[in-house]
Amino acid sequence: MSAKTKIVRSERSLRGNIWEFRKAGETIAFVPTMGALHQGHMSLVTLAKKKADRVVVSIYVNPTQFAPGEDFDAYPRTEKPDVAMLKKEGVDLIYIPKPESMYDVHHATKIRVGGVAEGLETDHRPTFFDGVALVVTKLLNRVAPDIAIFGEKDYQQLATIRRLVEDLDMPIKIVGAKIARDEHGLALSSRNKYFDEEGLSIARRLNEIMRYCALQMSKGENVDLATDRAAKALLAAGFSSVDYVEVRSPNSLTVLEGGILNGPARLLVAAHCRGVRLIDNFPVRALKASQYAINAAKL
Ligand code: PAF
Repeated sequence: MSAKTKIVRSERSLRGNIWEFRKAGETIAFVPTMGALHQGHMSLVTLAKKKADRVVVSIYVNPTQFAPGEDFDAYPRTEKPDVAMLKKEGVDLIYIPKPESMYDVHHATKIRVGGVAEGLETDHRPTFFDGVALVVTKLLNRVAPDIAIFGEKDYQQLATIRRLVEDLDMPIKIVGAKIARDEHGLALSSRNKYFDEEGLSIARRLNEIMRYCALQMSKGENVDLATDRAAKALLAAGFSSVDYVEVRSPNSLTVLEGGILNGPARLLVAAHCRGVRLIDNFPVRALKASQYAINAAKL
């Protein structure tokens, strides 16, 4: 394996390099990104390096996943530092497609994933997963990796991509990577760049409020009561609005009936702070009384 990182911008050049890897019998892990890279992305790259001989990272701010009025134009574009970070990590190939090569004027295909992609984010960003499914399909077709890595921070996105890849018979293993957080527990995100100091300190309360909510539910508190209280606590902490605080089954993301948890679940949240929409999620496990003290710290 050469230590030199290559940057490719055309599909032809991408495919040529992928072909060389394949000819040498090497496996490929792919990390799609929209750039504005931070340590969260780097943790995906580290995982990718462990899982395959070659690592390909794409940088592309995908317009079809932004609704009119969202931050597509303002989304941070930081190609130079992004490339420097990826080179430092020893990524083999950086794919930065030319925008006109992604959606040409005749593009007419849409992809809609049902089930896991319904509700939660889709209630607030109705076309988001259509855009993600479309661009991820195109990127996976172009890169044709063995493995593709996505962060668990976008939990519903990860579930949607798993469904998409399975339903469309793509021979690619989708791997979820654990959420990278700052020292206060705030999930790392390219949009954290939008915060001033005060915004950041409000945003950091989310982790504390959600972990408390998860702990109470794991001890047997009613899900509706715990999530309602968490939503109110977010507003009291300075969040301007809460899109959802919901508990779902961890894989199929189905609504859990009954009010009291009796198995593993996922707590998902989306809330607005100083004009920035934050999403996050946390594992929840129903605990027996004897396990509270031992396991509470691990939640
Ligand atoms: O999670 C992201 O950064 C994007 O949604 C993705 C998967 C790169 C598609 O544009």
